Amino acid sequence: MKIVMLGAPGVGKGTQAKRISEKFGIPHISTGDIFRANIKENTELGKKAKTYIDQGLLVPDELTLELVMDRFMQDDAENGYILDGFPRTIPQAEALDEALRNTEDDLDFAVNIVLPDEEIISRMAGRRVCITCGGTYNVDFRPTKKEGVCDACGGEVILREDDKPETVKKRLDVYREQTQPLIQFYEKAGILHNIDGLIGMEKVTEKIAGILGGE
Ligand code: AP5
Repeated sequence: MKIVMLGAPGVGKGTQAKRISEKFGIPHISTGDIFRANIKENTELGKKAKTYIDQGLLVPDELTLELVMDRFMQDDAENGYILDGFPRTIPQAEALDEALRNTEDDLDFAVNIVLPDEEIISRMAGRRVCITCGGTYNVDFRPTKKEGVCDACGGEVILREDDKPETVKKRLDVYREQTQPLIQFYEKAGILHNIDGLIGMEKVTEKIAGILGGE
């Protein structure tokens, strides 16, 4: 099963992709997580990506495509995956289609989570992430048991640099310009499913699982 998660920054793509990945036993591939891991390790890719991410801009397609195509080749992706944050531009979606055509394969579902901007801005302000394992929390909806400490691994939990309000605004503008056209792209392909992101984490997971054919 091959799934793409769509939606503006902060709608809950990562939260849901992790849950679906566990429920259906397929890998969760998040370009944002891969970039953040590279930034943490100070790799060449990480250094380049950071200059864009910190400004709320997209990392150029050439860099992103190289990274993702590499990830698809790994053994665990043989029976499918859930893509979170990729594709994010029409050229990325076309490159993905072409790569799949070469393996005589197709995407099965594009799941688009829809949320009003005010809710996105408020969730991003409340989001905290673990710098060690990438676990996501929210000071309003899902706080850590001990402030600033990850429940899962004990790592430090912080506000992401690109979650600062001025950068969030830029990310929403970039989303509208470069990523939103993907909704129509996948609607035309006949695989788009819209989900209301306001209904709570559990219910969103149930809806997605229903679409994918789980209970
Ligand atoms: P990335 O990490 O992909 O960021 P994003 O798409 O902006 O998405 P977010 O991680 O901000 O949010 P999310 O939708 O996953 O929400 P979450 O589940 O955390 O990318 C970061 C940057 O990397 C990009 O800006 C770009 O520069 C670069 N990049 C990445 N991929 C790229 C690509 N393909 N091409 C070019 N550049 C790329 O939830 C948000 C908060 O809400 C959390 O606190 C969560 O606990 C809470 N929450 C979630 N669901 C609910 C709910 N139902 N009810 C209440 N609270 C909820």
